[in-house]
Amino acid sequence: MAPAPQDIARLEKLGGPLPQYPSEPKDVLALLDDIGSPATVATTGGRYFGFVTGGALPAAVAANWLAAVWDQNAAFSVMSPVAATLEEIVLAWTLELLGLPPSCGAGFVTGTTMANFSALAAARTALLKHCGWDVEENGLFGAPPFRVIVGEETHVSLLKALAMLGLGRSRVIRVPADSQGRMRADALPELDDRTLICIQAGNVNSGAFDPATEICSRAREAGAWVHVDGAFGYWAAVSPRYAPLLDGFSRADSWAIDCHKWLNVPYDSGIAVVRSPENLHRALALSAAYLQTSEVREPSHYTPESSRRARGIELWAAIRSLGRQGLQDLVERNCRLARLFADRLQHAGFEILNEVVLNQVLVSFGSAAETRRIVAEAQNDGTCWCGGTQWHGRAAMRISVSSWATTDEDVERSLAAILRIARSHQS
Ligand SMILES: Cc1ncc(COP(=O)(O)O)c(C=O)c1O
Repeated sequence: MAPAPQDIARLEKLGGPLPQYPSEPKDVLALLDDIGSPATVATTGGRYFGFVTGGALPAAVAANWLAAVWDQNAAFSVMSPVAATLEEIVLAWTLELLGLPPSCGAGFVTGTTMANFSALAAARTALLKHCGWDVEENGLFGAPPFRVIVGEETHVSLLKALAMLGLGRSRVIRVPADSQGRMRADALPELDDRTLICIQAGNVNSGAFDPATEICSRAREAGAWVHVDGAFGYWAAVSPRYAPLLDGFSRADSWAIDCHKWLNVPYDSGIAVVRSPENLHRALALSAAYLQTSEVREPSHYTPESSRRARGIELWAAIRSLGRQGLQDLVERNCRLARLFADRLQHAGFEILNEVVLNQVLVSFGSAAETRRIVAEAQNDGTCWCGGTQWHGRAAMRISVSSWATTDEDVERSLAAILRIARSHQS
């Protein structure tokens, strides 16, 4: 699962003095494979449960190779008609899959951090425009202030996005969370039309969803902007069984969605979706004399970057190969297997620390030291890979079932290894 220390040590061989003369491409690739491949983490297999990583679907990997061979720059439609068209197709399909309004605008970015950044840039633009301030022209110096509200359990990448936008990490109002990490709607301050409120669909530890119905209706009445960090959790919308977790979320103003997590496409890939495309466009569009104007959607008018790789290609391949049914099966299978992990570990006498509502399981093996020992030994054992975390002051093993490749047999083998290790020190 994780590479051996000696394989990591061998990476040195890829360095050395700057090469003075050309090498044969096949020799370069052979060296890279020989030294690089053993130092990779086996995230493509079915027994990697770290972070919320997912794997990479075969069709998406092959589409990614094809895109690399095509060498397309997705900045403007004139540079790559195929990239621009596929973005539009994927956008329409994704909005339909996730139950979001078809008129939304979106940018195809590197992941949720940049999806949060892009969508929050649109929020900043809209809130300040409402106060008569043009933030793109005038910047934030002297701008009318607006409040930013986040949950106590907000993901750190959202705070980073706020920091990059000049809105501040610490200036935010933090709303307390309940035992599952959900923002407490009853603890929400008064909202008004100078408020940005950031909620979450899928807590990175517990998988829990904020109470969007109540928050969004209060925000609507007040004229506040609601942004959703839906990194992995929003994909639950494709399953009739899990979609109720997303009740109320489609009433928000913007959403950050990850594709390299639960959609299982290669890194890096995320989508910033905004209800009012003009605000995303105003925040991120660029123009110059040498750039042609056009009537069609220009990809880079909705992203922080200009030149960039054509992420829409592998997204198209992933959705085309799975179809709605295949994606629903993937999500439901992962959730069922997370439940299996939780039931079997609990049955074996270990404590599950979260309500397993989705694909995330937090398990304690007793004391913090014992839990950390088991996490470390399970990682070294190599049957599977699970990370460690802290949940409400307690050490936990964090099991995230997010890969298309994970089977029942993978979970059985992983459970057998974890339980063997957990019992090895029990008297
Ligand atoms: C809820 C949530 N938000 C944001 C992120 C950051 O996503 P990325 O690494 O794609 O930028 C994650 C990553 O796990 C997440 O779970």
